[in-house]
Amino acid sequence: MTGAAMRDLATTGKHLVLIGMMGAGKTTVGVECARRLGRAFVDTDELVTRTARMTVEGIFADGGESRFRRLEHGVVADVCASPEPLVIACGGGAVLDPENRRALRVAGVVVWLRAPAATLLSRVGDGSTRPLLRDDPAGALERLERLREPAYEAAAHARVDTDALDIAAVAGAVLSVFAGAAA
Ligand code: S3P
Repeated sequence: MTGAAMRDLATTGKHLVLIGMMGAGKTTVGVECARRLGRAFVDTDELVTRTARMTVEGIFADGGESRFRRLEHGVVADVCASPEPLVIACGGGAVLDPENRRALRVAGVVVWLRAPAATLLSRVGDGSTRPLLRDDPAGALERLERLREPAYEAAAHARVDTDALDIAAVAGAVLSVFAGAAA
């Protein structure tokens, strides 16, 4: 993509929203896309932990997944409402909530990053910082992915299969999709 095309893209009003499973590369790819677009990058998990002044594990331990989802819901509404166009990486479960899906689709171009189960597993390690993976990361990833596919499908304007692509190539694919959808 040319520099001029990238500048046009950077100034479209739509957020670029990345969704997908834990370990799909949303944060890494999001940071790279934001760098190329000259936009700010936000990660909903980071905003949730900042709001709660607690780690994700702490929030789950304290108030369960429901507390985490409530905080996440508020963060999604806030980032969608940002007048500054952003690159937004969503926590893997953010689009299970139909209101979050609707808000993200209205405010942004939503791109689903999909990676094979083995890749997800290699990226999340022992899952110790992700409460939903704690006991059995491999089994939990497989189960959650099966359960969540319909929500990702419903939320996404486009999907990028990241198999065998490095970060730069995934970011390039995401930005092509974004250019097409935001045009
Ligand atoms: C979750 C994914 C995590 C984090 C929380 C729950 C999920 O974010 O929001 O542990 O339900 O898939 P990442 O997808 O950034 O790991």
